[in-house]
Amino acid sequence: MGKISPLFGGAKLVCVITSDNHIDVKHPVPKVPMWFLTQSLKDSAKAAVPVDAYITVGDTTSRGSIENWELVRKCFRGVRPAENIFLTVGNHDLWHDGGFDAALNNYLLYSNKICGTNHDKTWFSHTVNGYKLIFLGNTEDAGCEAHLGEAQLAWLDAELTETGGKPAFVFCHQSLNGRHGLPVTWDRSGTCTDPMEGGVGTESDELAEILKKYPKVFYFSGHSHMGLGGEKRMAEDGYSSFEKEGSLTLINLPSLACGNHHGDDRSMGIGLVLEVYDDRVLIRPRNFATHTMNSRVLIKDGKPYWEELLDA
Ligand SMILES: [Fe+2]
Repeated sequence: MGKISPLFGGAKLVCVITSDNHIDVKHPVPKVPMWFLTQSLKDSAKAAVPVDAYITVGDTTSRGSIENWELVRKCFRGVRPAENIFLTVGNHDLWHDGGFDAALNNYLLYSNKICGTNHDKTWFSHTVNGYKLIFLGNTEDAGCEAHLGEAQLAWLDAELTETGGKPAFVFCHQSLNGRHGLPVTWDRSGTCTDPMEGGVGTESDELAEILKKYPKVFYFSGHSHMGLGGEKRMAEDGYSSFEKEGSLTLINLPSLACGNHHGDDRSMGIGLVLEVYDDRVLIRPRNFATHTMNSRVLIKDGKPYWEELLDA
């Protein structure tokens, strides 16, 4: 147990990242997911160094209703987890009995209130400490898939040309198709065989092509509620929560508060701490409920975290 603390001195950017918080008035005990979210916020607020950004990778709510967003706001009330807060939109956030537009309005209204931003759409970018953080989001109801559209993909392509040679961090609720064990890891049963399931969907190849054009891109997703998997999972089953394709690093987050399957650590309360240094990027799993960094799951080179050196 202990405070969030960068592994090395001189970190240029520190972010706390969680996903799939699933705040829901219809949860059997709504205070359960609220408790996990609150724990992560407080843990971030009490870090040994100021955290630059607290980020969620979608499905902050189980449905994008006013009632659910009010509970989210309640969790954030009185606690400032970081200098910046960004909430990526997820498919669940855009589901609402009143339809897509009502859910979209609720997401924009509440995420702007909580984050202190003024976004008018689900896709946006911010530069924090000189590092580009890019957030992708659906432009229409696409079920479980991502539907980003040509305008957003062209915008992403342009954004990635403006990183000043530094690593760029992209957040999108859905992972690329077929990564992180998909489609088998799409659900608890492990029986899904449709290669499109559980990922971005029809735009996956086009998105991958853009991401791979540029050096040092880190792509964070959630969505499948796969537990934390590392080297053992890769050796035995050919997938991990951390995967590398050329210059592109792919990271899939477990659900913070909704239960996980398929990983080596399926605990609730797991998210990530991103630490960016001049010469390397560290991505360190943390259990925000127990206030401990991961030591159980070996991620890369026998270490319990992902470390990537940034060659000149
Ligand atoms: Fe989810």
